[in-house]
Amino acid sequence: MKTRLTELLDIDTPIICGGMMRVGTADLAAAASNAGALGVMTALTQPTPEGLEAEIARCRSLTDKPFGVNLTVGVVSTEINYDDYVDVIVRSGVKIVETAGRSPEPFMDIFNAHGIKVIHKCVAVRHALKAERLGVAVVSIDGFECAGHPGEEDIGGLVLFPAAAAALKIPVVASGGIADGRGLAAALALGCEGINMGSRFMVTQEAPIHEDIKRKIVEMNETQTRLIFRSYRNTARVYRNGVADKVAEVEAAGGDFSQVHELVSGKNQDKAWTTGDIEAGMVTVGMSGGLINDIPSCAELVRKIMADAEQIVGERLAGMLAGGEAARAGAA
Ligand SMILES: Cc1cc2nc3c(=O)[nH]c(=O)nc-3n(C[C@H](O)[C@H](O)[C@H](O)COP(=O)(O)O)c2cc1C
Repeated sequence: MKTRLTELLDIDTPIICGGMMRVGTADLAAAASNAGALGVMTALTQPTPEGLEAEIARCRSLTDKPFGVNLTVGVVSTEINYDDYVDVIVRSGVKIVETAGRSPEPFMDIFNAHGIKVIHKCVAVRHALKAERLGVAVVSIDGFECAGHPGEEDIGGLVLFPAAAAALKIPVVASGGIADGRGLAAALALGCEGINMGSRFMVTQEAPIHEDIKRKIVEMNETQTRLIFRSYRNTARVYRNGVADKVAEVEAAGGDFSQVHELVSGKNQDKAWTTGDIEAGMVTVGMSGGLINDIPSCAELVRKIMADAEQIVGERLAGMLAGGEAARAGAA
C-alpha cells in the first residue's frame, strides 16, 4: 500500500506509533520501525538531553529504518529547556520530528535548516491549518477518543478526520480510537493518508511496561476511560481507576491542581508502569483500549493491520460494489 505518507517518510506502511511519555523508548520505536511502521521515541521520556542523545544512538543501533522523535511542549513541565533537546535532535541527525502540545513555530527554522520533516500533532482543524502555514510536512490529528490530550472541543474522529483532510493540502494522519485494520481502512476512506496509534502499540510485546498493565488493557472495554483535568483546561483521557476517580472528585469540588499533583505525579505513573499495579497512578489510555484483545509483537500487529485493511478494501467493500452491480443487473 502506498500513500502520500509512505512516500514522504519512506516507510512501508501508512502507520505511525505515536510518541508516548514513559513508553516511547528506543526499544518500542525500533520495533515499530522494523515492522514497517514509523516508530517514534519520546524526547522527554529521557530526563536529560544527554539521555536523549544516548537513546537516539541506541535506537539507531536497533533499526536502520526511519524513525522519529516526539517533542511535546508545555504539557509535562514548564522547567524543561526545549532548546537543549532540539539541539540534540538536530546534532543526532534525526530526520523526522513529531511535535505536540504547543505550536511548532519556535522550532521550525532550525528543523527546516536541517531538512527535518515535522509531523505536527494537534486536535483542531484551525491548529492544523496554522501548522500547515508554518511549513510542517504532515498533520496528525487526534480525535476525542484518543489517549492523552484530546483538547477541549470533543470532536470525534469521524468528523475531525475528513474535516481536516478536506481543509489541508499536506497529508493528514488520523489519530485516536484506531487499533486495527478496520480503523486504517476507515481513515483512508475519510481522506487521510495514514493512521497514528498510541494505545495499540502500548499493548505489544516490545512496549517497555509491565505485562499486568497490558493485560488490564486487553480486558478493558471502551467505556473504561475517563476525562480528567478538564477544569484546568488540560483535559486528559486516562484509564478509569481510583486515581482518575479521585481527581474527578477533587475537580468537581472546585479543587485546584495542587490538590491532585501528588496523585498524578510521574513517580506514581512510573510505579504503575513498572509494578503492573494499575491503581498506583494515572495510566494514559484511549477508548481504543476496548478494541485491543491481544499482546502481539509489533511485526505481528502491523502485518495483521495491513492484511485486514487490504481485505476490507479489496474484498469486503469491492465485493459490495460488485454485489450492488449484480443486484442492479438482476433488477433490470
Ligand atoms: C501512555 C501514553 C502516553 C502518551 N504520551 C504522549 C506524549 O508524551 N506526547 C504526545 O504527543 N502524545 C502522547 N500520547 C498520545 C499518543 O501519541 C497518540 O496520539 C494517542 O495515543 C492516539 O490515541 P489512541 O491511544 O487511541 O491510539 C500518549 C499516549 C499514551 C497511550
